[in-house]
Amino acid sequence: MSGDSGMTPFDEAFHASAERHERAFIVCVIVMMALLTVATMFYVVHDFGLVTTTQSFHSDPTAAEREVAAADTGRVVKTGPNSYAVHITGKAWRWTPGVIHVPEGAEVTFYVTSSDVLHGFEIQGTPVNLTAVPGVVGTVKYTFHRTGVFRIICNEYCGMMHHAMIGQVIVDARAAE
Ligand code: CUA
Repeated sequence: MSGDSGMTPFDEAFHASAERHERAFIVCVIVMMALLTVATMFYVVHDFGLVTTTQSFHSDPTAAEREVAAADTGRVVKTGPNSYAVHITGKAWRWTPGVIHVPEGAEVTFYVTSSDVLHGFEIQGTPVNLTAVPGVVGTVKYTFHRTGVFRIICNEYCGMMHHAMIGQVIVDARAAE
């Protein structure tokens, strides 16, 4: 026995060693959690939210302003024989333009941004799904192969009326030529 603790020198050495290992273990866990958090954020931003195979985004603020200005006009712009561009802006709590008409079979490029908080631009029944980020314009291309009404929803919680942030893509039959 040694001292008042009732521990032998062996006990003391054992406890010191155990504490060192526990500290090392805790540090390992913290490092792993930090790496996991950073990797998840990276994945969400780069592979899931903003960029997938046909998507890109740029953060040139001037360009973003131009896109936002274009979005305010709510126009669907014909960019080629069979292609269209739509500039769409999310703002609590609606999409502008709220109703988009495109012809069946046309390739549509959506330029999506937000003028306030994060919104989630999703066209139901399609793989179109990207985050609308203030100051950043995300793009996604999609070809609508059937006529009908596709609902645009917001899938990023953005406040009181988040659930009512709904728009429409109406795919019209091609006019007979
Ligand atoms: Cu916009 Cu939720």
